[in-house]
Amino acid sequence: MIEADLIVTGAAEVVTLSGPSPRLGESLAEPGVIPDGAVAARGDRLVFVGSAAELDRRVRLRPGGRRLEAAGGTVLPGFVDPHTHLPFAGWREEEFVARLRGDTYESIAAAGGGIRSTVAATRRATLEELEALTLARLDRMLLHGTTTVEAKSGYGLTAADEIKQLEAIRRAASAHAVAVVPTFLGAHVVPAERRSDRAGYVRELTDVMIPAVARRGLARACDVFVDGGAFTPQEAETILEAARSAGLALRIHADQRGDWGGARLAARLGALSADHLEHVDDDGIARLAAAGTVAILLPGAAHFLRDAHDPPARRMIDRGVAVALATDFNPGTCPTESVAVILSLACLRYGLVPAEAIAAATINAAHALGLGAGCGSLEPGKRADLQVAAVPNHLHLAYHFGVNHCRAVVKSGRVVVEDGRLTPLARGG
Ligand code: NIG
Ligand code: FE
Repeated sequence: MIEADLIVTGAAEVVTLSGPSPRLGESLAEPGVIPDGAVAARGDRLVFVGSAAELDRRVRLRPGGRRLEAAGGTVLPGFVDPHTHLPFAGWREEEFVARLRGDTYESIAAAGGGIRSTVAATRRATLEELEALTLARLDRMLLHGTTTVEAKSGYGLTAADEIKQLEAIRRAASAHAVAVVPTFLGAHVVPAERRSDRAGYVRELTDVMIPAVARRGLARACDVFVDGGAFTPQEAETILEAARSAGLALRIHADQRGDWGGARLAARLGALSADHLEHVDDDGIARLAAAGTVAILLPGAAHFLRDAHDPPARRMIDRGVAVALATDFNPGTCPTESVAVILSLACLRYGLVPAEAIAAATINAAHALGLGAGCGSLEPGKRADLQVAAVPNHLHLAYHFGVNHCRAVVKSGRVVVEDGRLTPLARGG
């Protein structure tokens, strides 16, 4: 008999995502659904995933253990959101209106708005304010089924302000159930006051900021925005080589608004992920596939920018690239914490089917964070991170869009959302 502290019963479907990791090619569309499924956890780990009938035969709930009733809903892994710009201050709703009236993302940035306006607001914020903002956003993510999230700095752009953002992430993460994986994005743009000294800013990144961030254990990865308005591939390579020497994993904001060679660079440097990729070409696709670099697609950002140019998602899948999905949560190009919204956009804009989108936002997203062995699927031995959605099957997660179906969330074996509300266990690390 398997002993359990928590069992989840009454599910119409359990979507396991068990099997190959990451999901490549046709396997992306194989969610591993168990009809009338059930799940059991002991401590922070899953100990059983199977049919309800088998659970009755093989699993015993220990005295004091909990039964979570899925009430005919769908049980699936907690979402893994592998690309967010979490700890910023200020919003940019006026830019949203300006863009609706005909301004562009680039023209707003050139006039001093865009990323630089968030930098100004974030520099003004205290560590405590950023921590509180981050905690509130983690609450909302958890309520929408996300149990693991990547969080980038990149709105400080001085050593002190970047470290302040990363400290805010660390403090918030230690006080919250959601697992947070921090990334240093000091190379988001060249800050306004350094515009005439690009080389000096790059040197400060490589010689001061990256070593300081790595020494303090404040980030697991380093990201660079490679773009006409940000950093060249040559500058990015210098920055990322320094990051690699400091022991950080590598990521690139690649080929978002044009083909800047970001995908090729990510593949050549063996980056963990290349993100955005709206303008990646066939050569870039082949290299990402060969390098095993995960393509993190961000349909919310493209949608919010009203960018009609979609990334060649189907070609990437067909050619063996590991494709993941993320929100890109940030105030300029994607102000939503909801991964479910991203599932719908990936289906409607890129032609993924719901099973593919779910795999991209769970097991492949975990892989993009280097966590594929620990989370992102429901398999015995993995972390007990799951959500119960009030939908009759997984198709509804993308099909019935724009509302929050998430009713319950289990993080590391603990019930942190119940009846659509946070429980006291959501805060407390
Ligand atoms: O991922 N591409 C650059 N960075 C963000 C946007 C940040 C902003 O506009 O504040 C992105 O879309
Ligand atoms: Fe981003």
